[in-house]
Amino acid sequence: MKHYSILEYARFRWFKAAVVLSLLAAAAYLWHDPPLKPYGGTWLGYTLGTIGALLILWLLWYGVRKRRYRSTSGTVQGWLSAHVYLGTALVVIVTLHTGFELGANVHTLAYILMLLVVLSGMYGVFVYLRVPRAMTENLGEDSLDALILRVGDLDRDMRARAMGLPDDLLALIDRSVSDTRLGGSFLRLVTGIDPGCPTAHAVRAWPGLARKLTGASARLAPSASSTASNTGRRCGPRPSSPNAPLMASARARGPSSTKNTSCSPSPTGAPMTSTMMPRSTCSSS
Ligand code: HEM
Repeated sequence: MKHYSILEYARFRWFKAAVVLSLLAAAAYLWHDPPLKPYGGTWLGYTLGTIGALLILWLLWYGVRKRRYRSTSGTVQGWLSAHVYLGTALVVIVTLHTGFELGANVHTLAYILMLLVVLSGMYGVFVYLRVPRAMTENLGEDSLDALILRVGDLDRDMRARAMGLPDDLLALIDRSVSDTRLGGSFLRLVTGIDPGCPTAHAVRAWPGLARKLTGASARLAPSASSTASNTGRRCGPRPSSPNAPLMASARARGPSSTKNTSCSPSPTGAPMTSTMMPRSTCSSS
């Protein structure tokens, strides 16, 4: 069954309602011909202000509705969809209510605070839609435990391959194994950027080192170009990349080689590696 997001709810019903509401307010504003100039104190100013205030009360009610588990008035998904679109239409209504007469006064302060609430709501929608999807993409069909086991398998496989590589490549992998850790500061977790990450460093250095390989080693190591195509700001390649197993192996060579890591302990006891994360969350210790 296809999943519809809050934005698509009921074929964009609330988006259409918000557009109609905004257009009606804009049409009234254009049609309105006040004696002096448009501002909050004209009859249209009061009307739009009242609509805006009622809308704010209704938007506040969402917090109550979503906690009323027995309520039969629509679905919470529908409520949130309406909340998001009508909350955005509020900006149009209240801006027209001001008649663009903004200044250093308490009315303008209230207006700015309202805009901040709306902006934070928009960020909330972004997180609401992005985070669950990112978690699904990250885990795929697997549970966390299954994913850890899969990484462990890849690690064992690629560990064997890495053994045949020259010392400098092996050292690169070794450092990635022992010094990569998951977690880190709030900034690292949120941005996924960690320039000091040993795995990210290994991925960056790999093309240059692998290019110099000859003979059997060259056949063992993934090509420089395929490695380069997987480099980026991620801390460690994606599990599906040709190099991921090699990097993963480097990070799971058993308890002795992971003594310096501060990876979060996994439910299975297997060392957690940054290949499990879609974005960088590891940092060098
Ligand atoms: C002045 C305007 C607004 C007010 C007063 C308002 C008020 C609220 C309230 C009271 C909640 C419930 C918080 C809770 O108890 O968990 C909420 C949640 C939320 N609002 Fe607004 N909101 C406004 C505008 C917006 C706008 C414009 C958007 C999006 C464009 C938005 C998006 C959200 C989201 C995503 C949630 C979280 C939903 C959830 O966790 O269930 N809000 N808002």
